[in-house]
Parts: sequence; structure tokens; C-alpha cells
Amino acid sequence: MERIDKVVSSALNVSRNDARSFIKKGLVTVNSQTARDIGAKVDEERDELFYNGKKINYSKFVYIMMNKPKGVISVSDGKGEKTVIDILPNEMKRKKLFPAGRLDKDTTGFMLITDDGDFAHRILSPKNHIPKTYVAVLDKPFNNEIIREFEKGIKLKNESLMPAKIKPLDCGYLTAEVTISQGMYHQIKRMFAKFSITVLELKRISMGGLYLDEALNEGECRYITQNELYFIENGKLL
Ligand code: URA
Repeated sequence: MERIDKVVSSALNVSRNDARSFIKKGLVTVNSQTARDIGAKVDEERDELFYNGKKINYSKFVYIMMNKPKGVISVSDGKGEKTVIDILPNEMKRKKLFPAGRLDKDTTGFMLITDDGDFAHRILSPKNHIPKTYVAVLDKPFNNEIIREFEKGIKLKNESLMPAKIKPLDCGYLTAEVTISQGMYHQIKRMFAKFSITVLELKRISMGGLYLDEALNEGECRYITQNELYFIENGKLL
């Protein structure tokens, strides 16, 4: 059980004072009853809270799938630059959300945003081999030799990368589906650069066993369900 003013403040990303004033104004309902007591306790498992007619999501952690557009950076504080957190719809914003992993400013696609640090660590740790799949549009065709090199694990600077899968999506070998389970800085661009190929467009299409929802346009997002969460960690693509 948690105090209602704390729950409203955290779920709506407003100060505790604002949360109390919403409650006093009768804008918050608990199980269809208007709440008035700012010190009342609510049950996270059972009670349904609404603010101004909109359901309040106050589960301990949230998990959001965003189709990241170009031009936003994947950090929590962009120090003046627009971030994936800035473009979340207001009703999804809450304290402590951060992007789980990085996509370059010009990369689009599946960005997972959460406030669950343990989960983020589990899906990002290379030790756990959670595959992430991208579609890359290239300036020059790749070939079977490059496929073999990716599969063996190529060397970038002094580091040997884990094996990566790559397959052509067109007969000209100019669009590649690439699956990696590490998340090194500019990893895919640097992997192709090793073979003098430039990545012109990059989009992440899956994390673990979960694919980017095709119904999401760039910049749009939705909550990830519990079943889907399981699939991120346990659905095997590799
Ligand atoms: N690899 C890259 O080069 N960029 C990304 O954004 C993700 C993977």
C-alpha cells in the first residue's frame, strides 16, 4: 500500500504539492470514487486510479516501446538537445525514466524506455546475449566474405566483437538485416566501415524476441505488456 499523493505525484511526474491539490480538487478517482483524503493509501495491485478521466499507470516500473525518430538523442538529460524522454507524451512521463541502451541521433526504431534499472541491465549486458536486430541501408553492397567475417566476430580497434548475423534483404545486397548482442558505440556503422561501407540509414527492428510494433509511427510509443517483456528476455532470435 502506498499514499495516494505519492502515487499521483510519481505517476504524473508532478510535485507532491500539485498531486495534493489535484486530489483536493476532486480530479482523482479510486475505483470510481472521488478521492479527497491526501493521506489515504492505495493498493498498487488492485486499485484503479483515474486523473481527469484518464487512467493513471502507477505500477512499480513502466516499460515503453518507442519508434525513435531521427534528430533526438537517447539520454535522459540532453543538456539542451531534444531527447527521447522529452518527446514522450505527457501522460507517460514519470520520474526516473531512461532509455535502455543507446541509438545514434540519426538511427530510428525500437527504443525501450523504462525506470527499471535491473531489467535494463539484464537486457543490455552482452553476457546475456539478448540479440538486437537492425535494418541497415548501405552505400555499397556487402558480400558473402563479409557475412563470414561478421559471423566469426570481427575486430574493432583492439576489441574482438561477438559473432553477428547479417543477411541481405534485397538482391543487390544493399540492405542488410544485422543482429548483434553487444551495444558498442556506433557498432554497426563501425563494423561496415571496416569494409569501407557506409551505413546510410539504420533502424532497430527488434530487441530479444520482441519486434517493433508496426502500428507505431516514428515518434510514437506505447506500453510494453508483461507477456512482451518476457519475450524480450526469453524469445530467442539467434
Ligand atoms: N549501431 C550503430 O552504429 N548505431 C546505432 O544507433 C546502433 C547500433
